[in-house]
Amino acid sequence: MSAATETGFTVWLTGLSGAGKSTIGRAVARELERRGAHVELLDGDVVRTHLSKGLGYSREDRDTNIERIGWVASRLTRHGAAVVVAAISPYDATRKRVRAWVEEHGPFVEVWVKADVEECARRDVKGLYAKAFAGEITHFTGVDDPYEPPDDAEVVADTVAQTPPQSVGQVIAELERRGLIGAA
Ligand code: ADX
Repeated sequence: MSAATETGFTVWLTGLSGAGKSTIGRAVARELERRGAHVELLDGDVVRTHLSKGLGYSREDRDTNIERIGWVASRLTRHGAAVVVAAISPYDATRKRVRAWVEEHGPFVEVWVKADVEECARRDVKGLYAKAFAGEITHFTGVDDPYEPPDDAEVVADTVAQTPPQSVGQVIAELERRGLIGAA
C-alpha cells in the first residue's frame, strides 16, 4: 500500500545486465519503505532461483520468466503493494503484455535503465561479459542476443551520465508527480 493514496503500482526496471537495475531497484524499494509503502522487490537474479528456477535464456524461457514476474506484480498491485521489478526483460512485446496485466489493477511505471553494452562490459561486475565475448556463454543479452529498447518508458535513467542516487531521484520524482507516493 502506498502511504499517500493506498493505490498499488509497479515500477518496472528494464535494461542490460550491469546497467544498474538491481542497484536502483534496491534503493527505490528502500525509499518507498521509508515512506510507509508495502514494498515487494522482484529481482530477476533472485526470481530465477525460485519462481523461475530451471529456466534458461531462450526467447521462450525469458518470456516465461517475465510473464511469471508480471503476473505476480499484477496480483500484488491489486492488493495495494508498491512492486519494484528489476529484470532485463529484453522483448518489447512481452513488456507491453505485462504492462497491460498490471494496468488492470494500478499504474505501471516503466524505467529504462540505460547504459550501452560497452559500458556494461567495462563494469562487468559478474564477469559475464568477458565470458560472453570469449564465446563461453552464448545468447548473452547485448552481445549475441537482442535487447529491444522501450519506446514507451515513463522514465529513462541514463546510468552512464548520472550517479545511482540521481537515477533513484528520477524514479521517485515520477512517482510523486503521479501522486503515487507522498512527499518525503
Ligand atoms: S530476462 O532476460 O529473463 O529478463 P533476468 O533479468 O531474469 O533476464 O536475468 C538476467 C541475469 O541472468 C543477468 O543479470 C545475468 O546475471 C544472468 N545471465 C546468465 N546468462 C545470461 C544470458 N545469456 N543473458 C543475459 N543474462 C544472463
